[in-house]
Amino acid sequence: MTNATQPSTAKSSTANTSTANASTVITNIGLLLTHDNEQPEIENAAIVFDGGRVAWWGPTEQAPAADDHVDAAGRCVLPGFVDSHSHLLFAGDRSEEFEARMAGRRYEAGGIRRTVALSREATDDELLANATALVAEMRRQGTTTIEIKSGYGLSVHDEARMLRLASTLTDETTFLGAHVVPAEYAEDRAAYVSLVSGEMLEACAPFSRWIDVFCDNGAFTEDETRSIIAAGQARGLGARLHGAQLGESGAVQLAAELGAASVDHCTYLSDDDVAALAASTTSVGLLPGVEFSTKHPFVDARRLLDAGVAVALASDCNPGSSFTSSLPFCIALAVREMGMTSAEAVTAATLGGARSLRRNDVGHLQVGARANAQILDAPHYRHLAYRPGVALVSSVFLDGVHERVRPLG
Ligand code: NIG
Ligand code: FE
Repeated sequence: MTNATQPSTAKSSTANTSTANASTVITNIGLLLTHDNEQPEIENAAIVFDGGRVAWWGPTEQAPAADDHVDAAGRCVLPGFVDSHSHLLFAGDRSEEFEARMAGRRYEAGGIRRTVALSREATDDELLANATALVAEMRRQGTTTIEIKSGYGLSVHDEARMLRLASTLTDETTFLGAHVVPAEYAEDRAAYVSLVSGEMLEACAPFSRWIDVFCDNGAFTEDETRSIIAAGQARGLGARLHGAQLGESGAVQLAAELGAASVDHCTYLSDDDVAALAASTTSVGLLPGVEFSTKHPFVDARRLLDAGVAVALASDCNPGSSFTSSLPFCIALAVREMGMTSAEAVTAATLGGARSLRRNDVGHLQVGARANAQILDAPHYRHLAYRPGVALVSSVFLDGVHERVRPLG
């Protein structure tokens, strides 16, 4: 299942408590979630990381020795979260919009332009410092792979610099020049679509793995989306879409038709949309932080899972519709509001995120996988939903390197 040619996606510069090449054994794991086909969960387990990869797991009493030893004392160990949807390059916040929505105002795509204005004024250092702090926040909450989109620049210069900055934080970068039409092109949408598909794409592609379009009311039409995605695919980028966030739309079936890796939001789905997704290779990225922060209805994830649709759970961390970096919070919402079991929600935040990014080296702990894992201060992953709002991650391993979030008691 491991693809040794996959790039490193989690670029870390934080202080570590072990070195990259040292091997580590974690023993006395109360519950180890591997996502292995034969043994997806093991009690009283141990796991060994060596050379940045998972080298062994099995019963704790059979654990081999290693350079470093961590006693999990009955805690749960699971794969690091794979957050397949975030917008971390921006300046400012929109907390007053959030407050107005809580008082009944509707969410509108146009709020994006406020962040665009603030982000264009920000220096590279300011943008990178903000994004780096958010990445660290995500890491402390168990996330080890992060996709980051542009979309708050909306000029050739600003989109390219945001993607250049994003590419210093992750290899999973997404060009979202088609987030909304910026104010200066309000009278000539066609010219903006040409710019995004031409000069802007050329400037951004060297820093991007993916291309994304917000295909929804107040953003881009299906025809515009089709032509922008086609240009990105021709330039070698993989396709992702934002769709059906604000109402049912053709975006979902378009994503399936275009072979997009993922269509995210999907708050409003017809039965035909669900059938098209089930027959496709396209994942759905569920973003319950958005429903929480916009008061939109939570998605019925059961309907998707029962139809056989591949589901990922992501934060959509952004200053407008979902300013959370926490996948544990999203898991709690998915279990409480979206009809997922805790096993399904945790799977969607690990394996599901990896599938959405078309990655097979992360999101699980089979032998050979990247040694990206977390230790929870709890005996079972279901505590992620059972203890909402509680910081449960005590350690994160990134390519086998141990970052203690909090001391293990
Ligand atoms: O994924 N839907 C489009 N883009 C973001 C929202 C961005 C914003 O409001 O600033 C999202 O929800
Ligand atoms: Fe988004």
